[in-house]
Amino acid sequence: MKPDIKLFDSDGKRLDGRKPDELREIKIEVGVLHRAEGSCYLEWGGNKAIAAVYGPREAIPRHTQNPLRAIINARYNMAAFSVEDRKRPGPDRRSREISKVISEALAKIVLTERFPRASIDVNIEILEAEAGTRCAGLTAAGVALADAGIPIRDIPVACAAGKIENQVVLDLGKDEDNHGDADLPIAISPRTNEILLMQMDGHLTLDEFDTALELAMKGCHIVSDLQKKAILKKYQNIEEV
Ligand code: CDP
Repeated sequence: MKPDIKLFDSDGKRLDGRKPDELREIKIEVGVLHRAEGSCYLEWGGNKAIAAVYGPREAIPRHTQNPLRAIINARYNMAAFSVEDRKRPGPDRRSREISKVISEALAKIVLTERFPRASIDVNIEILEAEAGTRCAGLTAAGVALADAGIPIRDIPVACAAGKIENQVVLDLGKDEDNHGDADLPIAISPRTNEILLMQMDGHLTLDEFDTALELAMKGCHIVSDLQKKAILKKYQNIEEV
């Protein structure tokens, strides 16, 4: 499909000057909220997200309890002021879907069997959105879980690849998402490369899909290093005090 705006310049650079396999700039800060067990503030290009983890605590209402394991309750919310056209506050279809897929992804990585009847609540607030918020939110949630000291097999991380003007690129920005052909967000456990979440918007051929998946995996590993650096930074500083 031909986009209605040009997404590459004559040098093959993208609208924001990135190369096809380049991520937007990412900043991660750990432990920003004091009333949460663990928290993370993350900027990813124009996205700004906060993740806060509460629990494990007794799951309420009681009928939601699982006698064998903890339930992971991720709640993704986009602030009304996070997008250009004010978003109607409160849950909608999209945020329910994102909350569900993030909950399922995190449940694969948390040792939930250690906390029967408990719930681990993960609140993800998107303060500013510019495409890729589910990846930003999940990546922040992974850091917040680690900061909370919740037993996890690995720190989950997410990143997307997509297709614009017939080329597979890493980490679509807003215009690329709006005018591009496909978006493939994934989340993985970086230690094992197990896929925790995979969704796709648009169309890719099988070859393009393989290329996009490989590129998104590479992106995940870069972001994973940033997560670990941010966590080390917080805990090394505490040790030095
Ligand atoms: O954010 P993500 O890419 O994970 O999800 P999406 O549903 O593909 O949304 C892409 C982008 O569209 C968001 O990041 C927002 O920038 C924008 N959006 C919006 O402007 N208004 C909404 N109600 C929902 C999304």
